[in-house]
Amino acid sequence: MLFDPLEIGTLKLKSRIVMAPMATNYGLRSDRAVAYYTERALGAVSLVIAQATPVGVFQSESFVTGVTRLVNAIHAAGAKAAIQLFCGNAQISGEAVAPSAVDGMREITKEEIEDSIRRCAYAAAKAKEAGFDAVNLHGAHGYFVHQFFSPHTNRRTDEYGGSLDRRMRFALELVAATRAAVGVDYVIMYRHSAKEFFADGIKIEDTLEFAVALENAGVDVMDVSVGRGPGKRDYVSPRKNMPLGTYADLAAAVKGVVKKAKVVAVGRMNTGEISERVLQEGKADLIAVGRQLIADPYWPQKVRERREAEIVVCNACNKCMRCIDNGLPVTCEVNPLAGREWEVANGTLTAGDLAALRAKK
Ligand SMILES: Cc1cc2nc3c(=O)[nH]c(=O)nc-3n(C[C@H](O)[C@H](O)[C@H](O)COP(=O)(O)O)c2cc1C
Repeated sequence: MLFDPLEIGTLKLKSRIVMAPMATNYGLRSDRAVAYYTERALGAVSLVIAQATPVGVFQSESFVTGVTRLVNAIHAAGAKAAIQLFCGNAQISGEAVAPSAVDGMREITKEEIEDSIRRCAYAAAKAKEAGFDAVNLHGAHGYFVHQFFSPHTNRRTDEYGGSLDRRMRFALELVAATRAAVGVDYVIMYRHSAKEFFADGIKIEDTLEFAVALENAGVDVMDVSVGRGPGKRDYVSPRKNMPLGTYADLAAAVKGVVKKAKVVAVGRMNTGEISERVLQEGKADLIAVGRQLIADPYWPQKVRERREAEIVVCNACNKCMRCIDNGLPVTCEVNPLAGREWEVANGTLTAGDLAALRAKK
């Protein structure tokens, strides 16, 4: 099933393998970013979901026209392109805001909530204009949208906090506004943390109710992740002591409650065997691969051609994640050429590096 096509409305995917959104610190318009993502598209992934991108950048027309180069490059390399939108105004006039005044942040006002929703919907329309085939709304990992849903961070007493219905409200309004902005036939993905791994955090029962509500509000694809950012990174990107397909059962639970929405499983889906099994067992419709594609952009092609022995295996060391946490461009322990693909085009790689790159294909 891994190489079966899938149609999601107007989006036609050639296989079930998608590239998980991963911050790079290369930007989206640089030669480095374009070459990095193009390499993953050439490696035969069906959909590249470009990294979390603050919605504010879409206010700039030069960003919208500039990012089209990335979209065109991904399309020319044979994949579809989506972009993950970092929704919400986590910073307003340089001040950190959140649903509730926790960790030194100011509680966001209702007027600012409305503005956050408007800006996200606008960004989605601009992403569509730039040529992206879908948007992935970032509702996971402890960021702004997630903070509304999680009882751990949402202590509001108005219509945006308290009961489950009220904690869902921000995300549902966000989805509805995004749907209105992009039209009926455009694909909206929603990334959600199904579990937070602490006592007063998100529970799976809440997630299931939320998934149904998100689908009703206009979500086409539920992208099922876990955890929250700082302090809990190793849940989001599990280390190698965690089983392959770490979170497939959470995806399966979501798949059990949605009607038409497609479901993405993520988390150490690093072998063709585990990915195929998750699909065969009906636990998910799509497999998102993250770090394994940093380690080896040609992973999908090698799996398809049964060239497993040639795969450069991700060792889940999370060096890539540490780069992001320290504000550095992503590099990889097992693939020294990750993020250096553009140097091939520039001819600035040494002959040795170039030979290593070619050997991987
Ligand atoms: C370097 C790095 C950057 C990431 N950036 C994002 C991001 O921008 N948005 C997001 O939703 N998840 C992000 N993630 C999480 C991945 O999308 C993915 O869910 C996680 O790594 C588990 O998948 P994997 O085991 O295939 O790597 C990031 C992960 C890594 C390693």
